[in-house]
Amino acid sequence: MNEKVLQYNKPTLRGTLTIPGDKSVSHRSVMFGAIATGKTTVDGFLLGEDCLSTIDCFRKLGVKIDVEGTSVFIDSPGMDGWQEPTEILYTGNSGTTTRLMLGILAGSNVHSVMTGDASIGKRPMRRVIDPLRQMGAHITGRANGQYTPLAIQGTSLQAIDYHMPVASAQVKSAVLLAGLRAAGTTIVRETEISRDHTERMLRQFGAEIDVRDGVISFEGGQTLTGTHVSVPGDISSAAFFLVAGAICHNSKIMLENVGINPTRDGIIEVLQNMGASMTVIPNEDSQSEPTATITIETSSLKATTIEGEIIPRLIDEIPILALLATQADGKTVIKDAEELKVKETDRIAAVVDELRKLGAKIEATEDGMIIEGPTPLQGASLQTYGDHRIGMMGAIAALITDGAVTLDDADCIAVSYPTFFEHIESVK
Ligand code: S3P
Repeated sequence: MNEKVLQYNKPTLRGTLTIPGDKSVSHRSVMFGAIATGKTTVDGFLLGEDCLSTIDCFRKLGVKIDVEGTSVFIDSPGMDGWQEPTEILYTGNSGTTTRLMLGILAGSNVHSVMTGDASIGKRPMRRVIDPLRQMGAHITGRANGQYTPLAIQGTSLQAIDYHMPVASAQVKSAVLLAGLRAAGTTIVRETEISRDHTERMLRQFGAEIDVRDGVISFEGGQTLTGTHVSVPGDISSAAFFLVAGAICHNSKIMLENVGINPTRDGIIEVLQNMGASMTVIPNEDSQSEPTATITIETSSLKATTIEGEIIPRLIDEIPILALLATQADGKTVIKDAEELKVKETDRIAAVVDELRKLGAKIEATEDGMIIEGPTPLQGASLQTYGDHRIGMMGAIAALITDGAVTLDDADCIAVSYPTFFEHIESVK
């Protein structure tokens, strides 16, 4: 635990930031590189702790992975050449590593045991294990597989036709990754569209996959071949500086390399609805994932309602959007977001409790929160609950508070944005 006192004295923000690699795409680049036969090179990889956990797990499976700067070089014998790990696969704080690896390991040739940190030990795994068991997976764990530690005996799998009960890219991806090794056609039906990085990467590594009206289908037994992956910047990291630029006085910042995948761009829509002064210039040379340069200036903001299909497109941005709403005129309502309760911490409770300490007018609801603004914020001592996004919300709040904000643990921010405080320093 590293306590950090943030006394910024209401700076103006100016300058340009290059947003670090997308966490979801970085995880998947290593997973696909390890499943594929041959060499994969990755550029713009996020050196966050979560993604390093993914690398560590695959090294224990015998996959050769070298990291040089933000490039990653993977040389894999393909899944059938993996070694049975002699050590426990440790997934740290990473839900994506834990859940996607379950789907991968279920159809492998190896036995493995997986566990993570205290937060991972409280997060529901049955949402992934239930469909995997329907495919024939042998997985055991605490509370009949609901919680880590989990043991996975790789086995042969059967394809299923799966209706997603919850909008979750982690569940969808686990089923799709298991489907790679399953006999028959795997079908996943989404009622609400979640991030589609897995589908895009399946294609990039040579698989044939059909995606239409929320129905994804593909044949099992397809082999993947190593390739080159260019990771876009993480819009979920850019989100903190988009909000900072809008709420700090007399500010203007430019964010380069921001991923604007349409399944992730909900925050852009919300900022536009709230009246933010922002321009989004798409990059012509984007590869499998589109990117843009976004410029944001101090904005006069009005309240909004965030609900329905947009929620999966901005689920990780809700903590920082709640801070934004404290500075907008009127009542902002966030609904249909009960998934926040099963993130790294219960993010409805954490956001409401911590923003209240700063003087925000905010109340929790069953599936979201209601925020009244604009409200001047005061410094206070905040808890992060070991959750990177709660920590970054508190740090961005510190840019507009009267008085200092103290975070009980700033180290957790390295999970997704290790250069976060350097980036604050470079624009303030
Ligand atoms: C992720 C999916 C989302 C998101 C998480 C990353 C992914 O989780 O919140 O940060 O990489 O697939 P859910 O699948 O639980 O919605």
